[in-house]
Amino acid sequence: MENNMMRERILHEFESRFGSEPSFYASAGRINLIGEHTDYNGGFVFPGAIDKVIMAAIAPNGSDRVRVVSLDLDEEAEFGLREEDAPSQSWARYVFGVCREIQKRGGKVKGFDAVFSGDVPLGAGLSSSAALESCFAYALNDIFNGNSIDKLELARIGQSTEHNYCGVNCGIMDQFASVMGKKGKLIRLDCRSMDFEYFPFAPEDYELILVDSRVKHELADSPYNKRRESCERVAGRLGVETLRDATEEMLESVRGEISDEDYRRAKFVIEEKERVLGVSDALKEGDYERVGELMYATHRGLSKDYEVSCEELDFLNDVAKECGVTGSRIMGGGFGGCTINLVRKDLRDRFVETAVSRFKEKYGHEPKVYPVVISDGARKLS
Ligand code: GLA
Repeated sequence: MENNMMRERILHEFESRFGSEPSFYASAGRINLIGEHTDYNGGFVFPGAIDKVIMAAIAPNGSDRVRVVSLDLDEEAEFGLREEDAPSQSWARYVFGVCREIQKRGGKVKGFDAVFSGDVPLGAGLSSSAALESCFAYALNDIFNGNSIDKLELARIGQSTEHNYCGVNCGIMDQFASVMGKKGKLIRLDCRSMDFEYFPFAPEDYELILVDSRVKHELADSPYNKRRESCERVAGRLGVETLRDATEEMLESVRGEISDEDYRRAKFVIEEKERVLGVSDALKEGDYERVGELMYATHRGLSKDYEVSCEELDFLNDVAKECGVTGSRIMGGGFGGCTINLVRKDLRDRFVETAVSRFKEKYGHEPKVYPVVISDGARKLS
């Protein structure tokens, strides 16, 4: 949706419901070039914010109650700001969680009215939930705290919201990318030290295309948390804080003492750490063919060892390979959602047509296709 149209619809709803004058904020969904399931293992990730956002109109209402409208769901929630006031609607718990996490850190949140909408596809692995959290965290920091909470902490507020109010024991990647994203730049983040570096990403001959299987992915109560538990078990067995500090040799040395499943999960994470570093080097040299090889290797690992792919995504990956696409892999938490494809521009149309028609023939519905436009993260709109 054109952002101006979204803004008009939000403003119209806000004025008719609340009658006051709001400020506007937005935050973005994200892609990740490589480095999957590494964030909660202290490893490296390579995300960027995209041009799909959650946008909110917000104004303090002078009370101690929060009234929020989700325009897309056509639902309203009202809640107080104490722990026992948690709303029941799952979407509203993201907003409530952000308020509570700000308060827990000594920040201020008072009553406010809000209307939000968005065009980040839900359940597609593009982190609509991180966009929602970052949008509200950024806004409430601006409105009630004079922007005194730093941006990294805003990302942590979103992550803690997932942990404490939404049942997903996620890493920091999504919220970090959503808050810190910059137009035209990917971010290589070291999730142990939280050091990061912006990488300009605008290859002349290639583009990034997302193909959304439309298999819905729902991380709450999902095998996502189980994957994390496997990693923590192996790290514990190896006596290291996270798998970031583990090597293949160390893993081999305990192979007989851990389950085959835990072994394969840890093997993927250890290999993936090296792949992200390989991609950083290849990007610096402009070697996109190497980037692509590493993306395919990640897909194999996510599918065979980490087991977070599904038939539809493996099929899309095979079609990409057959079409000669440079790199392709499942993106995000998994269990559905998108593949991310690094495609030569001259191959783009043929790949998209083939992927859409072959997928439809096999599964009866068309996948959605989105070109990736690397964009800004959380912000106040003027
Ligand atoms: C989800 C989580 C992230 C990350 C990815 C997998 O998107 O929210 O923290 O673990 O899965 O890389």
